[in-house]
Amino acid sequence: MTAPQAFHPLARLLHWTMAVLILAMLFVGVGMVTTVSEKHQWLLALHRPLGAAIFVLALIRIGVRLRFKPPALPADMPALVQFVAHASHWVLYALMLAMPLIGWAMLSAGGYPIMLGHAWHLPPIAPANGVLFAWLREAHRYVAYLFFLTILGHMGAALYHALIRRDEVFPSMTFWPKGHGVKTEAPPDIAADESEIMTDTRQPPAA
Ligand code: HEM
Ligand code: HEM
Repeated sequence: MTAPQAFHPLARLLHWTMAVLILAMLFVGVGMVTTVSEKHQWLLALHRPLGAAIFVLALIRIGVRLRFKPPALPADMPALVQFVAHASHWVLYALMLAMPLIGWAMLSAGGYPIMLGHAWHLPPIAPANGVLFAWLREAHRYVAYLFFLTILGHMGAALYHALIRRDEVFPSMTFWPKGHGVKTEAPPDIAADESEIMTDTRQPPAA
């Protein structure tokens, strides 16, 4: 089976929906821990259900990824760079699952109720233990930093493909066809002029 030109539409929809949700979560998390105001409770109330939604969407996304073959990276990319690109994608998938699980386990270890809304709450997934709580709290923070750094590297790589290499990688994840708004080939009139130059066999006049 040959590789498709683009990611499956469902994979693209999940990619961009989750990119917005995950970036929002990183900022909501930092907002929660950097404010001294009691008014930040609404941020925590948003953080828990959004984190749970990211966990469920990540599971669906991994299923979609395994079910539908992704497009191949450009053949002229060195093997090591292709390996790093694929490895970084699996690190991103792992972090999408790890962050909500650590957050959930942290609140369980702290003995807090894990409310997702007024009526919904999750069962604890770790024993109530102060030392474990402190450890998971640190882990949630440092894994979030790692997530942020990996996303920055990923965005840098995506923009490098889109703006500098101008190859098929970026359009494979968007909803518009390759070349939309970006001239990737010489316009026909220039191409015609060029071919004229190439085939012009006239000799310059003798001096
Ligand atoms: C929270 C932010 C983001 C996360 C977690 C994320 C995650 C991912 C993952 C896991 C893949 C691999 C798809 C696969 O092979 O299964 C991917 C692909 C891709 N992402 Fe993102 N992404 C994010 C934001 C962005 C942004 C902002 C851009 C554009 C500037 C972008 C552009 C791309 C492109 C072009 C691909 C296709 C790469 C390829 O063909 O291998 N992503 N993303
Ligand atoms: C993709 C999912 C998640 C992301 C990206 C994320 C991100 C963050 C970030 C950046 C912080 C601030 C860390 C710091 O600087 O100390 C934070 C704090 C926190 N997160 Fe998450 N989180 C996620 C999921 C969850 C879930 C599912 C829960 C609970 C069910 C949760 C509970 C918390 C709590 C209670 C804090 C405050 C910790 C403290 O007081 O130090 N998080 N999160």
